[in-house]
Amino acid sequence: MPKKIIGFSKLSREEKIDWLSEKIFDDSNQVKSILDNYLNSNKDIQAIHDSFSENSISNFYLPYSLSPNFLINNKNYTIPLVTEESSVVAALSNAAKFWFDKGGFKSKVESFTKRGHIHLSFNGDEEALKEFINNNREYILKSTDNITKNMKKRGGGISAINIIDKTSDLKNYFQLSIDFDTSDSMGANFINSCLEAMSKKIEELSKQYDYFTKSGYSINIIMSILSNYTPDCIVEAHAECDIKDLIDIEGIESEEFAKKMKYAFDIAKVDINRAVTHNKGIMNGIDAILIATGNDFRAVEAGIHSYASLNSKYESLSECTILDNKFRISIKIPLSVGTVGGITDLHPLVKLSLQILGSPSSRDLMCIIACVGLAQNFAAVRSLITSGIQQGHMKMHLINLLIKNNANEDQIKRAKKYFVDKEINNSSVSEFIKSNK
Ligand code: MEV
Repeated sequence: MPKKIIGFSKLSREEKIDWLSEKIFDDSNQVKSILDNYLNSNKDIQAIHDSFSENSISNFYLPYSLSPNFLINNKNYTIPLVTEESSVVAALSNAAKFWFDKGGFKSKVESFTKRGHIHLSFNGDEEALKEFINNNREYILKSTDNITKNMKKRGGGISAINIIDKTSDLKNYFQLSIDFDTSDSMGANFINSCLEAMSKKIEELSKQYDYFTKSGYSINIIMSILSNYTPDCIVEAHAECDIKDLIDIEGIESEEFAKKMKYAFDIAKVDINRAVTHNKGIMNGIDAILIATGNDFRAVEAGIHSYASLNSKYESLSECTILDNKFRISIKIPLSVGTVGGITDLHPLVKLSLQILGSPSSRDLMCIIACVGLAQNFAAVRSLITSGIQQGHMKMHLINLLIKNNANEDQIKRAKKYFVDKEINNSSVSEFIKSNK
């Protein structure tokens, strides 16, 4: 019978590592030394990182990169990115440079509403529930006064409460759907705190509500939580140029390139196999800037992929059009992000990222992120329809393979030259190292 450990979170870091070494590894010193190597020598910084998560025993590094030359709404940005995937940053930087001379990217926020729900079961009808909420709206909203005070000063707060009858989907199921403006914060804590305060108040008021007690109606709050489905927090971005300006693309004639590109985008609209991978390419850039700016990439991923299924089938998030000799790529996505709150006030690198971006508002950040996604998408599809992605990808991956095969500096230098026109894989790199001692 496997044994479970009780009170793991109460152990000190050393005790946790001892437990790990004993349970899984023979050599406790080696485990400890790997974990220690990734600790920050600055105790204050380490303390910040330890505070982010329970049971933390070390830090996990990923490369922190920059992609310059991003012209967005006529402003020149340098984009901070966190990703481990070879060639993502190189491809993105290439696309940014390509569009810079053609007017860059344009982007605008189309809507800015975040939403949360109180999910409840109610054994009466919709009219009775509506009347109860309307009669008590003032008290319900008042229960959030302490929480909304500061947000109101920043122009945010609760903007609507709607009652949704879901009884045709599930017996007695109703929702209070509540709209929020969370200003420059992503607002998860704010929304959830408001919802929980309102739920408590609703429960309390419903027990004293005459009509309910007389008719035997009762409200049972099931849960209160924000939704990561954010179809009313939408940003659009596009880039456009004359077809004749699509030059220097792997020797392909500009008109042919434009048509092939459009066809590749169209395939992603109609075929799920391609749509998912096409969107993954978009998320390569989006996740990388989300992590660099301390945003919740799981929430954005969930929201974006559900939006891709808006037409009852999973589709690509971007489009390519050719009209009057103009080539245009565009994207429309939901993005719920923040530039204050969460770890944005705590993580030194997140603070730096936001400074690199010129301390954007959350609306500005939505625009920047959408353009990064579109540029990454353009770069990926451009490679796919020309040289294929392996050429660029393996060029970057060569370094990983060389390190894996313990190459020294001189071998790395020589390998870079040798593999310019050779196939790169683990065995060819390992052979190279063996014969170039
Ligand atoms: C790889 O990480 C991303 C791509 O597969 C995206 C795409 O196919 O469009 C290259």
